[in-house]
Amino acid sequence: MTAVVPARTPEQEFQDRIDADDRVEPRDWMPDGYRRTLVRQIAQHAHSEIIGMQPEGNWITRAPSLRRKVILVAKVQDEAGHGLYLYGAAETLGADRDELLDMLHTGRQKYSTIFNYPTTSWADVAAIGWLVDGAAIMNQVPLTRCSYGPYARAMTRVCKEESFHQRQGFEAMMTLCHGTATQKRMAQDALDRWWWPSLMMFGPNDDASPHSAQSMAWGIKRFSNDELRQRFVDATVPQAQFLGLTVPDPDLRWDGKHWISGAIDWTEFQTVMRGDGPCNRERLRHRVAAHEDGAWVREAAAAYADKHR
Ligand code: 3HC
Repeated sequence: MTAVVPARTPEQEFQDRIDADDRVEPRDWMPDGYRRTLVRQIAQHAHSEIIGMQPEGNWITRAPSLRRKVILVAKVQDEAGHGLYLYGAAETLGADRDELLDMLHTGRQKYSTIFNYPTTSWADVAAIGWLVDGAAIMNQVPLTRCSYGPYARAMTRVCKEESFHQRQGFEAMMTLCHGTATQKRMAQDALDRWWWPSLMMFGPNDDASPHSAQSMAWGIKRFSNDELRQRFVDATVPQAQFLGLTVPDPDLRWDGKHWISGAIDWTEFQTVMRGDGPCNRERLRHRVAAHEDGAWVREAAAAYADKHR
């Protein structure tokens, strides 16, 4: 009597593919939950890129030299491009770009808390390149191996550009730290204000992350929030030391293998995530105004496309 092997369900067959490190493509069958969490993460990633243009864009007209202005313009343009790649990746999952933007504009979808802090000096532009893009790279390189093909491929291009961003930020910090005493103080002040919000970019601690376990089972996340945060701290503390700067964490200690940071203020994280950060309202107001001001461009492009189909 041969044993009857029950047919495998579509979900089980899908998980077999993930476990075999297969790439999932837009036309493949996928669980609704897989599609939903990818749309959620990719859309919020795209929103972060678009909103992230504001803090640095604020300094384009006030860059200290033509060279710094050219670098900054290129970086801000890159962020816009990253947003467009990612909205495109979300559309391969059936998401509607206008709907995603409306969810951003009406607060139904998030963007990274990091972009709700003010950029009060030129040193902030340097610190954002060094720390924020540095954290982004740590988080996004593993996404180049995400199980969903279009997201992974978008990340390959994004990470190449993020590497440029991080290097130009660090080089700008070097210039300040090797400059006058005032410039060194500006660099330290920027590190003081951007260090902790950069650690929050990796998300809540693993035991407080509602999505991580499933995202890791589906090969969307390759490492946990805390693992990537630890990698970032281990890589960045020596850079701060090289710059002659002090990481604003009195509890930071070396345990022989890792730099162990002090406690993150998750109350601040929740406050900013809830929309009550220093710049949340300003960022969204500016974003909605830019979208409305640009309506005529979208209409003209659509009319031209219709005429020339
Ligand atoms: N800011 C805002 N919301 C955050 C957040 C942050 N820093 N960290 C976590 N959250 C939110 C999550 O979106 C989720 O809320 P939701 O259910 O409403 O979407 C909730 O907090 C729980 O967090 P989880 O860790 O369980 O959620 P995820 O599994 O989605 O992990 C993440 C969060 C690590 C940010 C992940 O979504 C991710 O890797 N996203 C892709 C990278 C990204 O979006 N980076 C944002 C910065 S973009 C950037 O750096 C641009 C560069 O050019 C500077």
